[in-house]
Amino acid sequence: MTVSSAPGKVYLFGEHAVVYGEPAIPCAIERRATISVEARDDDHVRVQASDLSLDGFTVEYTGTTDDRPDVDVPASLVDAAMGYIDAAVEQARDAADAPDAGFDITVESEIPLGAGLGSSAAVTVAGIDAATRELGAPLSVEDLADRAYRAEAAVQKGEASRADTFCSAVGGAVRVEGDDCRSIDAPDLPIVVGFDGGAGDTGELVASVRALKDRYDFAADTITTIGNIVRRGERFLDPDPSDPAADQSVEERIEEIGRLMDFNHGLLESLGVSSRSLDSMVWAAREAGAHGAKLTGAGGGGCIVALDPTPETLTGLRFTPGCEEAFRAELADDGVRRVA
Ligand code: PMV
Repeated sequence: MTVSSAPGKVYLFGEHAVVYGEPAIPCAIERRATISVEARDDDHVRVQASDLSLDGFTVEYTGTTDDRPDVDVPASLVDAAMGYIDAAVEQARDAADAPDAGFDITVESEIPLGAGLGSSAAVTVAGIDAATRELGAPLSVEDLADRAYRAEAAVQKGEASRADTFCSAVGGAVRVEGDDCRSIDAPDLPIVVGFDGGAGDTGELVASVRALKDRYDFAADTITTIGNIVRRGERFLDPDPSDPAADQSVEERIEEIGRLMDFNHGLLESLGVSSRSLDSMVWAAREAGAHGAKLTGAGGGGCIVALDPTPETLTGLRFTPGCEEAFRAELADDGVRRVA
């Protein structure tokens, strides 16, 4: 049996705008999806998911979504999770030149589905890594990130950026602009996450932003402005020695990053991808003294990310109506981890 894990992530800046070629900065967090894979003698794929934030399920099928049997859990949950697992299996078969390979797969995830924490990227990265190693065809981290991106793009019908999958594969904070992906040497950030218990539909939300952008020039300008916020944010995350930002203390830089996150949230809100519960959590974090707070990921529901070195934001969020869970998230320096 081969086991790999990969981290989820928060977006410090730039989700949605990244779809249109602007830069984005996601940051991996220590909440992981762990995938165990065992090769089978036939071409079947059997998937057991013990915790994908709702009830677990077990399905056995021959590797395509069409011949999947009925199971007793919400179809949307199974479809969401299985779509990524199917795509990961296809990428692993292709990479190992083993089109008929079958697998027993177990998925364990600490990352809620569809909540903006990159659950699908983590499952895809860990799944491709474990399946290719199980077939004796291990991939470099760069190839793994690329295969995981192709798997996500196939599931999301082309509407995907490389941000989530690259971040999950390499870990740490990363900067993604089109096909250009690289690591950023960010300071240790005091990340707090609030989760409303819900989820947004990434495909629908991306389509709604595209419709606004096509209809209104000022929506297109908003996307450009988000890109400008990302460009300013990266100066304060990892300043060039010649940049005046390098003369500031880490605390001062984190305060500026927070102010920019607030601005980024306002623009995402204006693009219609926030929600009442996300806004309540953002405001609760700000009122508790966080340096800044914004939704993370596609939006519609799910998670916010705030920066606060004190316990106040965590406490404030726990008493906020609509917030189901709040936790401090360590930055994950490791991306994919080869567990066994
Ligand atoms: O909610 P998530 O973790 O799937 O993030 C979506 C981020 C978008 O920028 C909205 C889409 C993408 O593929 O970059």
